[in-house]
Amino acid sequence: KRLVILISGRGSNMLSILDAAASGALPAEIVAVISNRQEAPGLETARARGIPVGVVDHRAHASRESFDAALAEAIDACSPDLVVLAGFMRILTDAFVLRYAGRMINIHPSLLPSFPGLHTHRQALAAGVRVHGCTVHFVTPTLDHGPIIAQAAVPVVDGDDESALAARVLVAEHALYPQAIRWFVEDRLSLVDGCVRLAAPQR
Ligand code: GRF
Repeated sequence: KRLVILISGRGSNMLSILDAAASGALPAEIVAVISNRQEAPGLETARARGIPVGVVDHRAHASRESFDAALAEAIDACSPDLVVLAGFMRILTDAFVLRYAGRMINIHPSLLPSFPGLHTHRQALAAGVRVHGCTVHFVTPTLDHGPIIAQAAVPVVDGDDESALAARVLVAEHALYPQAIRWFVEDRLSLVDGCVRLAAPQR
């Protein structure tokens, strides 16, 4: 299966996916990494591994519609089976999301439906939860609300600040995302009544 990964920044989740593909743990080809920011550090990481990279700069577009149309063109030129959002920090139009319905996924750093949006670790600390984590989900028009594919939990411990908690969740993200993508690639995911079903592996 062919994957396109969209990033905006550091790209550590992207790297975990590239590493899983390179090691054979994830039977997929990363055909391109596309960023909305030329200066995203993750682009250099991808380039260094020989992955084709592209930039669709949101600042060059007057509207979300125009940016999303240019982004869709760049993605479709790669004919991906799956679009993987990995720290991609742009709100997408409904038209864009619907174009990739059932073949675009995101990782969010909280146990959804708790703490959608930004500053999830700050939200978790403020709420006093003892368990936090990350969620991989299909992307639907409502932000951070799509059908849940996989989740991983981490403890919140006394003395945690935002960065300590974020670091603990990030370790879980790096294990979870390649695993969830593998399920997609193996055609094991389906939607039943708006919820994800995971089929047993083929033997
Ligand atoms: C991750 O925590 C991801 O869950 C969130 O943004 C962060 C991106 O980090 N959406 P990276 O660019 O993958 O290192």
